[in-house]
Amino acid sequence: MSRINPSILAADFVNMQRDLERIATADYVHVDVMDNHFVPNLTFGPQMVGRIQDVSPIPLDVHLMIDDVDRWAPDYARLGAFSVTFHAEATEHPIELARTLRSLGSRAGIAVKPGTPVEPYLDYLAEFDQFLVMTVEPGFGGQSFMSETMAKVERVRSAVRDAETDVWLQVDGGIDRSTIGIAKAAGADTFVAGSAVFGAGEASENIAALRAAAHD
Ligand code: DX5
Ligand code: ZN
Repeated sequence: MSRINPSILAADFVNMQRDLERIATADYVHVDVMDNHFVPNLTFGPQMVGRIQDVSPIPLDVHLMIDDVDRWAPDYARLGAFSVTFHAEATEHPIELARTLRSLGSRAGIAVKPGTPVEPYLDYLAEFDQFLVMTVEPGFGGQSFMSETMAKVERVRSAVRDAETDVWLQVDGGIDRSTIGIAKAAGADTFVAGSAVFGAGEASENIAALRAAAHD
């Protein structure tokens, strides 16, 4: 089964509650937190995400594109996020941080940029609930899918299979009706989509079209 997680980076920030209701048929709402240090863009922090948590009809899949993640990530678990994903590039202690997030009741995810190898993390898959392979350089919506990242998705999928764990394999960036099937064939099961959901057309129809394109 595929999970479709709309990214509210592409929503209307002054109509956030309306846009959250429009994606109620999706699986999780993907919340992109950016600090203008880890990536050259700025979105919102714990106060805004806390209000999104209060009103969202579906659980939160928080994607932290920030430095000082050891300091900040636990706050997102504490406010009730279903899942908190941090970047491997942003911490020296990914396993300890994942354990902290789990102890606070959240799922723990690890993310890698397109240029970051996945191998160092494959021996520790049981420590994580989600592995996010970025399919664009993080920072902005609306970029083109990088098909060269599919080799990493295949590598993670085969390691998850070998380890017999249930780590969700997420892709994020440039996912639309034509690329979702490519990522699924490589082994992804959790798909983030911003422009393809909040762009042209009705969000709920776009979500249904993505599910159909993933052949669910
Ligand atoms: C990019 C973000 C993505 C972004 C995806 O750094 O992590 O979640 O919103 O947007 P699209 O689907 O438009 O590529
Ligand atoms: Zn994201």
